[in-house]
Amino acid sequence: MCGIVGYIGKKNAIPIIIEGLKRLEYRGYDSAGLAIINDKRQLEVFKQKGKIVALERIMPQAQRTFSNIGIGHTRWATHGKPNTINAHPHTCSQNKIALVHNGIIENYIALKTKLIDHGYSFDSETDTEVLAKLIGFFYQQDNDLVIAVKKALKLAKGAYGIAVICSDDPSRIVAARKGSPLILGIGNDEFFVASDVNAVIIHTHKVIYLNDDEIVSITKDNFEITNLDNEIIEAIVSEVDWDISTIEKGDYKHFMLKEIFEQPVSVENAFRGRLISKMSTVRLGGLNMTPADLRNIKKIQIIACGTSWHSGLIGKFVIESLARIPVDVEYASEFRYRNPIITPDTIVFVISQSGETADTLAALREAKARGVKVFGITNVVGSTIARETDGGVYIHAGNEIGVASTKAFTSQTTVLILLAVMLGRVNHIDPAYGKRFINELRLIPDKIQTILQSNDYIREIAKTIMNSTNALYLGRGLHFPVALEGALKLKEISYIHAEGYPAAEMKHGPIALIDKNMPVIAIALKDDIYDKIISNLQEVKARNGRIITIATQGDDLVTDFSQDVIYIPETIDILQPLLSVIPLQLLAYHIADLRNLDVDQPRNLAKSVTVE
Ligand code: G6P
Repeated sequence: MCGIVGYIGKKNAIPIIIEGLKRLEYRGYDSAGLAIINDKRQLEVFKQKGKIVALERIMPQAQRTFSNIGIGHTRWATHGKPNTINAHPHTCSQNKIALVHNGIIENYIALKTKLIDHGYSFDSETDTEVLAKLIGFFYQQDNDLVIAVKKALKLAKGAYGIAVICSDDPSRIVAARKGSPLILGIGNDEFFVASDVNAVIIHTHKVIYLNDDEIVSITKDNFEITNLDNEIIEAIVSEVDWDISTIEKGDYKHFMLKEIFEQPVSVENAFRGRLISKMSTVRLGGLNMTPADLRNIKKIQIIACGTSWHSGLIGKFVIESLARIPVDVEYASEFRYRNPIITPDTIVFVISQSGETADTLAALREAKARGVKVFGITNVVGSTIARETDGGVYIHAGNEIGVASTKAFTSQTTVLILLAVMLGRVNHIDPAYGKRFINELRLIPDKIQTILQSNDYIREIAKTIMNSTNALYLGRGLHFPVALEGALKLKEISYIHAEGYPAAEMKHGPIALIDKNMPVIAIALKDDIYDKIISNLQEVKARNGRIITIATQGDDLVTDFSQDVIYIPETIDILQPLLSVIPLQLLAYHIADLRNLDVDQPRNLAKSVTVE
């Protein structure tokens, strides 16, 4: 959600910031802007509605200007429309200070009222302009940017990641965070600030992840991190262990397609090194739990948002089935605002690809405050959730850039299945099952590869339903969350209204919608409830529904009532979601692409939702 990039060093800041913003565009992309200090020690601000290319178009002259300090922003609107006036940077009333901001200043109306009482006026509808003017207000008292930022932040309630420059002090960037990620990149005689490592990775692999309530003052040669009470904080420098190629599209038309095709590898990375063949079990070292600890778990609470919540639902199904431990799965945004029952023998798992989702983070903190252990299932190493949990499991999916999550979902699901088997082996399941599981899991990457070979065929199916206005996804048991995920993918990127439903529940409502124009995408694999879903699909057929079935290789029966069948290889029940979701991802992708939509940056969405 919104991206921040700042640069100070010997090079020209403008192209570095523009390039960095492009790398962050997946986080927010409705408007963009940047501010530099020119050689006359004046602040210059460029802003434009739309994507970074729109910003570049209005500043060809500036591209030739040289400035070795600047800050930039790509926005996902919270307060005020996505237009040029509301775009960041915002400035103080004397046009000396420029600020870019991620997050929300919750008390901005009260602060704005006070500033208006002091004679201030405002151009935009944003909370950010209020913060910029407030910093300006304090700057007039002390003429010290760091002090002014600290004074303003002490009054601000809410979440922020900010970067600030001031034309009176042209060799300093001040940056701070609370609840919204911010890193300091350390180069050779240059520094970067960014909301995300992606923005700086071509320049440096050395980063410092700022913590909440920390402020960094950066000059060309040095930096100092303090907290709001002026105590000096010792910085821990981390080395980023991935490189630029992982955030490039390569030959793929979209990141989403690339990420779908990466799944044979990303799923393997999620289980690599975690299978203990000799004991027919699984080890998740990051949990730091002995078999005795695992046996003591009486209840599991899973908390997540979006796609991660869907993987949590699969987790519930497999953990309850293999380990017989009750599992509750809740949206983080709901969990944090009610009074959930957390017994002392409960453990909590928060699932988050980005590790930064504001609601998930708040739910994590609420669960910790109740004195139970909270573990994370995250992708982004060093993310806030990864750092604040008591331990956890990285899914190792690699960078996911497409806003619609694909490979993170299968990797999260893989980890949850591993967890279920690990808990199952200390409770209920025998070594023979453990062994079979390990053997079957090892075959999954190749089976995903086989499904990916149906890509062209799935595109042909997509052509036949690309103009639909609604779609229904049906599944039973652990395929119900897969149906939810398939429907979510379609909604997110094609803007077709879609719903996921447990197939039998269809009779209690959605069946009223079924006619020849309504595609029904059904997951009907050979398992214990195969016959049941077949009956449900006959009910759809009787109402002239157009059925696309995800079926087990070799199942001819489904052709009787399906217009199209996408076959997937057989595997054991608990691993089926890792296969059945792949055609649904491809179907959504091709429909959106055929509709000429912006697959990787769908309207109104953002990859990482750092506001509640
Ligand atoms: C946003 C993204 C989704 C993601 C959800 C949760 O809505 O667009 O793809 O599933 O946030 O994100 P997280 O990073 O916590 O998994």
